[in-house]
Amino acid sequence: MKTEILKLLRKTDGYISGQQISHKFGVSRTAVWKVIRQLQEDGYQVEAVRNKGYRIVDSPDVITKEELDSLMKTCWAGRNILYYDVTDSTNLRIRQAGDEGAPHGTLAVADRQTAGRGRRGRHWESPAGTSIYMSLLLRPETAPDKASMLTLVMAVSAAEGIREGIAAGRDTEEKSGSTEEDGRQSSPPEIQIKWPNDIIINGKKAAGILTEMSSQIDYIEHVVIGMGINVNTVEFPEEIRGTATSLRLEYGYRIRRAPLIAAVMKRFEENYKTFLETEDLSGLKDRYSAMLVNRDRDVLIAGPKETYPAHALDISRTGELIVRREDGTVERIFSGEVSVRGVYGYV
Ligand code: BTN
Repeated sequence: MKTEILKLLRKTDGYISGQQISHKFGVSRTAVWKVIRQLQEDGYQVEAVRNKGYRIVDSPDVITKEELDSLMKTCWAGRNILYYDVTDSTNLRIRQAGDEGAPHGTLAVADRQTAGRGRRGRHWESPAGTSIYMSLLLRPETAPDKASMLTLVMAVSAAEGIREGIAAGRDTEEKSGSTEEDGRQSSPPEIQIKWPNDIIINGKKAAGILTEMSSQIDYIEHVVIGMGINVNTVEFPEEIRGTATSLRLEYGYRIRRAPLIAAVMKRFEENYKTFLETEDLSGLKDRYSAMLVNRDRDVLIAGPKETYPAHALDISRTGELIVRREDGTVERIFSGEVSVRGVYGYV
């Protein structure tokens, strides 16, 4: 009921009366009033005006199930939400949910993680109240060797979703610190992708993706795509300060997390459909390449045996990075095997 009323308030231009709401849901006006009170206690600014009704003026930066349900515009991605105030790792939660039969598209979201995990066994800093930690469960009917491409599908979706979600989630409470007021450039910073799946703004990492798969030799049981987005973080631990950033630091204002999550899910659902049409990145490659920060740059490829310089050209239809070695040979780099960084720094 809370989610439904929240949705209705959001959909309504102007005021909607208690009578109309109670009629729509077949409940008493007192029940409606109680829900409105609950929403106000949760931090929603709902104006109540005699003879006019209710109007939602502002929403808090919460990522609860109700808030996400009320914003989600997808058919399946993020339609079944598992929300945690605190959990160890949303990737672990969603893997367990997958083993227990949770449906394709189930999304675990946490406000804080105590054991957030990054790629290559690294730790992912996951404090409360500032960022997004979420993991999506997929049950793709594709062969296991196609799964690595899903991480690139999420990278494009995250970049596009963040771009859209930044506008939708801009915190209207916070007027100071707008890009123009604090003297930054008025055109918003570009969102880029560092192959295969880091989201980069102004040369620093704003989001990362960790994809894990549970499979048999010839079929995928499930895939977990975990994503951490630094949204309103203003201070990073010493060891990542030089390479990490947040949307708030780059855009100059606070952003509500829930609209961002909804926007990323929407983009992912659409992009996943495109991926399934060909089971490769043919339909997404141009958009991915246009955001690829490594494109046409000198990079260092660090593999298990050697680190060598190369020139990054593009990605292939199946998601490998195409590079030209110094001796002129062109080769494809698979994401599981190596890490790629700029010759002079992180990108
Ligand atoms: C990376 O190293 O770039 C990947 C970071 C992925 C972090 C996210 S936060 C939500 C999900 N749960 C985890 O434990 N990790 C991923």
